[in-house]
Amino acid sequence: MQDVKGKVAFITGGASGIGLGMARAFCQAGMHVMIGDIEQAPMEKAVTELKENGGSAACVPVDVSDREAVFAAAKATIDTFGKVHVLCNNAGVLVDGRSEKVDVDNWNWVVNVNLWGVVNGLQAFLPLIRSHGEEGHVVSTASMAGMVNFRGSGPYNATKFSVVALSETLMEEHKKDNLGVSVLCPGAVNTKIAESGRNRQGEYGGTDDSINAPMAALLPDALDPNTVGRQVLEAILEDQPYIFTDPRSRRHVAERFRRIAAGFDWADNCKALK
Ligand SMILES: NC(=O)c1ccc[n+]([C@@H]2O[C@H](COP(=O)([O-])OP(=O)(O)OC[C@H]3O[C@@H](n4cnc5c(N)ncnc54)[C@H](O)[C@@H]3O)[C@@H](O)[C@H]2O)c1
Repeated sequence: MQDVKGKVAFITGGASGIGLGMARAFCQAGMHVMIGDIEQAPMEKAVTELKENGGSAACVPVDVSDREAVFAAAKATIDTFGKVHVLCNNAGVLVDGRSEKVDVDNWNWVVNVNLWGVVNGLQAFLPLIRSHGEEGHVVSTASMAGMVNFRGSGPYNATKFSVVALSETLMEEHKKDNLGVSVLCPGAVNTKIAESGRNRQGEYGGTDDSINAPMAALLPDALDPNTVGRQVLEAILEDQPYIFTDPRSRRHVAERFRRIAAGFDWADNCKALK
């Protein structure tokens, strides 16, 4: 987008961490921000803070895995701000564990929030962004876990690769129009992601403060989410497709591609293909 001033953004998971970092950066740039989050009190606190700092912000409760709720949030965004230009599919939860060991409730939870949450966001908001003819942008938050697979995180990796796949598909589909598409692939960022269990819905077993607790120790030294928010704003203005927060991770992606290329080398000489 050439100019974001006066434009409207909807951010899922905007009550905390990276989503709140985006909300702060967008408000500072003169955008109107609608936060959609499952956590009511932090969401309201975030809006109060944004407004106290001169921002234009509002919020709507939403569970991104609930399709009807996401469509209702889209309607609330239009009712509040008239239009929507930027969609940030950012809400996500972290479940650690090997694919064969993570129980089916946690599998369903992480897939329904991290993958279906993005699908619901696209289906509810993209037609609205496309309807007014002005330029727009979609940013979906994947992870470095959507670029390389971390051991012991099968379900999380699977959902984050899916977010990269959906984003790259959108990039192809909107190559020639005025919709920009970015996929955000953060490394470690100092947020509450290690406390994802605080938001596990009743249907998956309810809140569980023990989920991911071991990872929590790594995060205080990690990147400030406000920095990531500013990066996202910069990426929207420059129409940057891939947003990486840790340039040192390049070597891990290169190593993955090296292993994939070795698979093609093998196929070149594979007896079955001769
Ligand atoms: N923090 C990191 O190191 C890191 C690294 C890579 C990717 N990410 C991704 O960044 C995104 C944001 O996470 P964060 O690190 O800011 O964590 P966070 O826990 O601080 O923020 C996540 C937000 O999402 C909300 N949320 C959770 N479930 C929801 C649901 N069902 N519906 C609506 N909102 C819901 C939470 O209430 C919270 O406000 C996630 O997609 C996460 O996977 C984080």
